[in-house]
Amino acid sequence: FLPKKKKQKDSIINPKIQKENPRVVNEIDIEDLSSTKSYCRCWRSKTFPVCDRSHIKHNELTGDNVGPLVLKKKIL
Ligand code: FES
Repeated sequence: FLPKKKKQKDSIINPKIQKENPRVVNEIDIEDLSSTKSYCRCWRSKTFPVCDRSHIKHNELTGDNVGPLVLKKKIL
């Protein structure tokens, strides 16, 4: 017995960010980084693409383990 294959719809990652666009692309100019900044990878942030810590609730509700991409500027 094999488990029923999930439908493609069941694997949507982005529930509501910029759904009017065929794909969501964000560009970050590395020169504009002034300090440490966290970027969302859970697709639940209300300030997307910047992380607003919504991943914490998402992980609690789903058992997932996602977190942000943290960019740090090296201070020379
Ligand atoms: Fe999405 Fe933090 S809110 S990773």
